[in-house]
Amino acid sequence: MKVIKVKNYEEMSNVAAEIFKDVVKNKPNAILGLATGTTPLGLYAELIKDHKENGTSYKNIKTVNLDEYAGLDIGSDQSYVYFMRHNLFEGLDIDLKNTNIENGKAEDKEKECERYNNLLGEMQQDIQLLGLGSNGHIAFNEPNTPFGSGVHVVKLTENTIKDNSRLFADINDVPRYAFTMGIKNIMNAKKIVVLASGKNKANAVKASVEGDVTEIVPASVLQLHPDCTFIVDEDAASLLK
Ligand code: F6R
Repeated sequence: MKVIKVKNYEEMSNVAAEIFKDVVKNKPNAILGLATGTTPLGLYAELIKDHKENGTSYKNIKTVNLDEYAGLDIGSDQSYVYFMRHNLFEGLDIDLKNTNIENGKAEDKEKECERYNNLLGEMQQDIQLLGLGSNGHIAFNEPNTPFGSGVHVVKLTENTIKDNSRLFADINDVPRYAFTMGIKNIMNAKKIVVLASGKNKANAVKASVEGDVTEIVPASVLQLHPDCTFIVDEDAASLLK
């Protein structure tokens, strides 16, 4: 595992953007594993800027997203499909047909998990982006998720509901369930980049990077990945040795 310490959020986003641009330029039909949340917004803005200014093309790029809330309407501006379109895809020349995410409105949730799991089996991520939950979660894999898990439905913990409620008008509007890639699907990526910024991530960064590899801290599994890089700003790195 490699750890790159940077000054702040802006630098974290820029360093990550360089890595993603390299992948896209070197492999124009690459498969990008993407994340939502506050952390990747700066990276996504950089990729859009680069596309507009330098013409980096995403025409043949394919994407798979980590997770999606269960039950939200597809048109809901809180859904992750909306987030991705609004914050990244609409700013690029990507073909929306090449973008993939779990169908949060699927009636048969088990079948949807199976569909997405099979899809991921055929679409190994050339690079997978991750944010980090303050409890060490990756995607919606909460503490004690088995490392061998595939795509599944999770009941969100109170901690995550609270963290995510800042993006909703009312905490009661936060969905209680979500679809997520499992740890196994994430670990299958050829390369993994984890971004963390801010003091509220410091404990999770320390436990993931320097702690034991344990299912209690889902991100600690990344220590076992052959090509994983954490890019952390000063605040998020503040507890590291
Ligand atoms: C998002 C995701 C989550 C977030 C994590 C951090 O697709 O899977 O695991 O990466 O909750 O969220 P932010 O970036 O909002 O702090």
